[in-house]
Amino acid sequence: MMLTNRNVQESAAYLRAMLPAQPEIGLVLGSGLGPLAGEIEDAAHIPYADIPHFRTSTAPDHAGRLVCGTLAGRQVLCMQGRLHGYEGWTPDEVAYPVYVMRALGVRALVLTNASGGINTAFQVGDFMLIEDHINMTGKSPLTGANDDALGPRFPDMTFAYAPALRDKADEAAKACGLTLRHGVYCGVNGPQFETPAEIRMFRLLGADAVGMSTVNEAIAAAHCGLPAVGIAMITNMAAGVLMQPLSGAEVNEIAMRRGADFRRLVTALVARL
Ligand code: HPA
Repeated sequence: MMLTNRNVQESAAYLRAMLPAQPEIGLVLGSGLGPLAGEIEDAAHIPYADIPHFRTSTAPDHAGRLVCGTLAGRQVLCMQGRLHGYEGWTPDEVAYPVYVMRALGVRALVLTNASGGINTAFQVGDFMLIEDHINMTGKSPLTGANDDALGPRFPDMTFAYAPALRDKADEAAKACGLTLRHGVYCGVNGPQFETPAEIRMFRLLGADAVGMSTVNEAIAAAHCGLPAVGIAMITNMAAGVLMQPLSGAEVNEIAMRRGADFRRLVTALVARL
């Protein structure tokens, strides 16, 4: 069993000795968003492979290390590269680093990702504040015995995406002169993109964007009482919305092209947390 306070404390003890300062804000960087870590000042880099109990991401363009330092005057602990279910990691392995952040004293978690747009009012390159999620992976990181030292057996998800932090994301977007859409994120396992029928179903269910990450980390944050905020970059319209095939290359190309604005937005948000 992965999610035990004992494991978490061992990981946190290792990191405490490595970190330049006590982190305040946790940051998880999604596909194509890794370059944000390059803007962190006085950074310490710690490969996941060196941290007790951490798994190492294999996704392309995910560096697989923690970058800790100063961003917008805040001490941040940044995951440059996250783990995904489609790589074969179990949901608790994917969620594990969130508990370690919490144990280190992080008081807010910023989750970012690349998503397909389901809402037909969205455009490629848009940014979407995650108001809520639908977990379509069919799994939970909290499956199995619960360690009460980490969180309750039946955690509340009503405010998993903390309203106060969502307001700050809106303020940050306004200050940057960027439009921030709002919507519901649908999390799937992948790695195949969805079928057009699945996308029509997700739209009927109330989803505005779809992606292969974020839900496990958000569940973990709610479980351990860490306020979370999520921002999705719409890198493509989801399958069947446009009469064209989807590709991972397209996702990365748009993530690159919109990367500078995304970094501005996230930095402005961190400044307000
Ligand atoms: N579907 C799932 N995950 C994604 C997509 C998508 O269309 N785009 C980026 N990540």
